[in-house]
Amino acid sequence: MTERKAQLIVDGKPESVELPVYGSSLGPDVIDVRGLIESGYFTYDPGFMSTAACDSDITYINGSDGVLLYRGYPIEQLAEHSSYLETCYLLLHGELPDAGQKLEFENNIRYHTMVDQQIHQFFNGFPRTAHPMSMLVSVVGALSAFYHHTLDISDPEHRMLVARRIIAKMPTLAAMCYKHGVGQPFMYPRNSLGFAENFLHMMFGTPCEEKEVSPVLARAMDLIFLLHADHEQNASTSTVRLAGSTGANPFSCIAAGIAALWGPAHGGANEAVLDMLAEIGSESRIDEFIARAKDPNDSYRLMGFGHRVYKNFDPRATVMREVCNEVLDEVGEAADDTLFRIARRLEQIALEDDYFIARKLYPNVDFYSGIILKALGIPTSMFTVIFATGRTPGWMAHWNEMVSGPYRIGRPRQLYRGPAKRDYPAVQITAAVS
Ligand code: SDX
Repeated sequence: MTERKAQLIVDGKPESVELPVYGSSLGPDVIDVRGLIESGYFTYDPGFMSTAACDSDITYINGSDGVLLYRGYPIEQLAEHSSYLETCYLLLHGELPDAGQKLEFENNIRYHTMVDQQIHQFFNGFPRTAHPMSMLVSVVGALSAFYHHTLDISDPEHRMLVARRIIAKMPTLAAMCYKHGVGQPFMYPRNSLGFAENFLHMMFGTPCEEKEVSPVLARAMDLIFLLHADHEQNASTSTVRLAGSTGANPFSCIAAGIAALWGPAHGGANEAVLDMLAEIGSESRIDEFIARAKDPNDSYRLMGFGHRVYKNFDPRATVMREVCNEVLDEVGEAADDTLFRIARRLEQIALEDDYFIARKLYPNVDFYSGIILKALGIPTSMFTVIFATGRTPGWMAHWNEMVSGPYRIGRPRQLYRGPAKRDYPAVQITAAVS
């Protein structure tokens, strides 16, 4: 196939540098701008609106058509037919497991869910009021202290062992962050339970009594993890890749990803959605908040709306909305579905309003997930911890994809707009030596 090239023309004058063009299997092709430096130019793309930072086979998003594929499989089909652990295997290995591989993977995860007893001591240092994300980011980073002997990132066996370990331990650590905050003893994982059921057991069970987990709620929890499992080169995944590009150990890279996810513009939005719905408080106040979100002089934004890539509906939000109905039905009047009513009304108004339509602002994954989590009895402060738990296989798959091939340290450049070179003024020298 003939080699494709892009030509750069600046102020009408063609530059000598030729920029190769590479084809994608889906989505935009790319122009390789690495040679641009020879012509004395950098590309300029704050926020990486039009920058492919890597090539990847893992996840494909088509923002205008609302498409999300994990290794080619549509998220809607995985949500209907798969499970979180099967999806973890798919993201890590590139193919769905056969029956034997699935059983082996599930057992492997099952027998790595416990954490070293020393990790329990870490929590004694946190105030009971510590935000769960502040605890999670700390203890995940500390995990490397327990596994230095199996952190050779050039060894594929070590890489997969770390991936299974961290996927298995995240729900245990997440539940410990919650239990520390409520002053209850940590619950050990139960090998007889499924992944999501085990998490809800560690969250809400106590040594005094088992927590009966309904299959509907366990399935909803599993689906929440599945829908958050990966999402291409989002901010936290790009953070994991950048940290990984220095050769840092994978636990540190995941801790960096957790830190990035915490921001309200990213994974922190699900917590911010609930805070927003609670602040709105009643359907009669929705217009007031819509007006604020539209006011160019007010930095207020409707949490759970908008997305850098989706300029149509977020397919995950569509699945989440259906799960919302099922969960609220299951928990019945016990759930505060006022928030759900406000959310539905907010969505309806926003989707009819020119401001949101012109900017293609649709509900994103965080809009409904918070309502489901609240209906499951999970406190708002734990929402982003749940997001991090679900996103762990995606972070590990991208880290593994990068370090298993040739890679270079990520080191962006800049458009420098500071002062030109200048000398230290004599007057200061005299003053300094006097
Ligand atoms: C996630 O990248 C991923 O894949 C992330 C994620 C994943 O799975 O990893 O999907 C998870 O992070 C989902 C997004 C969760 N965040 C929120 O719900 C927070 C609220 N949304 C926004 O802050 C915003 O929409 C972003 C951060 C999500 C996207 O920001 P962009 O692409 O940089 O868009 P922008 O800030 O340039 O906004 C474009 C316009 C602006 O108006 P104008 O200056 O053109 O007049 O839309 C407006 C913005 O003011 N706008 C909003 C808005 N989001 C954008 N106005 C009101 N409410 C909002 N929510």
